[in-house]
Amino acid sequence: MDFNKIIDRENTKSVKYDGREMTFGRDDVLPMWILDMDFAAPEEVTKSFKKRLDHGIYGYTMLDSDCRESVCNWIKNRHNWQISPAWLSLTPGVVPGVNMAIQAFSKPGDGVIVQPPVYYPFFAAVENNDRRLLYNPLQINNGRLEIDFENLEQQASKAKIFLFCSPHNPGGSVWSEEELERIAEICLKHDLTIISDEIHADIVFPPAKHIPTASISPETAARTITFMSTSKTFNLAGLSTAYAVTSNPVMREAFNSTEAKLQVGYCNLFGIIGLEAAYKHGQKWYEKMLSYVKANIDFTVNYFEQNLPQIKPLKPQATYLLWLDCRELKLSQSALLSLFVNKARVGLSDGTIFGPGGEGFMRMNLACARSTVEKALGQIKQAVDNLKV
Ligand SMILES: Cc1ncc(COP(=O)(O)O)c(C=O)c1O
Repeated sequence: MDFNKIIDRENTKSVKYDGREMTFGRDDVLPMWILDMDFAAPEEVTKSFKKRLDHGIYGYTMLDSDCRESVCNWIKNRHNWQISPAWLSLTPGVVPGVNMAIQAFSKPGDGVIVQPPVYYPFFAAVENNDRRLLYNPLQINNGRLEIDFENLEQQASKAKIFLFCSPHNPGGSVWSEEELERIAEICLKHDLTIISDEIHADIVFPPAKHIPTASISPETAARTITFMSTSKTFNLAGLSTAYAVTSNPVMREAFNSTEAKLQVGYCNLFGIIGLEAAYKHGQKWYEKMLSYVKANIDFTVNYFEQNLPQIKPLKPQATYLLWLDCRELKLSQSALLSLFVNKARVGLSDGTIFGPGGEGFMRMNLACARSTVEKALGQIKQAVDNLKV
């Protein structure tokens, strides 16, 4: 697999490419926003699609025991967490799963804690279900987004659910065992359900190590539903397939019956073909992808330090994202957006959509060829330099 290769994604029904006009008002920006990669998925995944495609019948599909086993093996090998095949529930994505979990484990009016700046569909998942958003804003300490435990404790006393992003998007914090234990202690004390979105669990850079929230202790597992997926790890987001892991049978039953009520029980055929093939045969591709993306991140962080010190990226422990602190440019958010879109012609995500703490920030997706990164950085530098003229 050559990650340097540029693959033309235009006119492929790609949101990232074909949705630029709609999102940025122009289609000539280098797209570094929505979270998929510009890399072809592992060859073994494509081969397994072709094999199944040749069968010619694409009827209703179920999560079979082979597929369940491949998920359990991947989680055991990568995260040292032994789960049972029966704990898995398939969902048409992590976000739909989070919505269903909110419905299953709370009532309208209940409080749900989120930690902004955070993956913005979390806000809609709470508000669209008529639950109350409770904020525990993260704080930047030594270049890392960190948890304010005192405020978390206060919010927990008014909440029913802790909606957790682990590792964190944006900013790429990987939560340590000590942090997870403190969260677990607070959630236990205030009897909160933990919804742990661990979609970025595999995109973690050593020495950081992802620890599944539910693996912290049996008491934590008993109140946690975990969401994972192959969509970020193997670039399969278009297949709309994810899964929940719930060890507590009462919680699992509640979640499954909420899903059943929505009548979304069958799964995407190619979603589970891809999931199984990626987990069984994608390891080599995955390791190469991780080191390629890490090199892109190091290159970009270094570029800003050397050439554009007014923009300060947080150094991520996880994800293929950079959270760019642009506050030193002293621009309004709309001027900042216009600088990137209309001057630099680079399409990044607007920091303010991630909620409080996002003002003055932009999020950059670096899962692309190095030449694209270099081009984008050159264009950003020129646009910033021109500000002074
Ligand atoms: C934290 C987080 N959760 C969920 C998702 C999306 O998951 P899905 O496409 O499976 O709904 C993303 C995608 O960017 C994400 O960053």
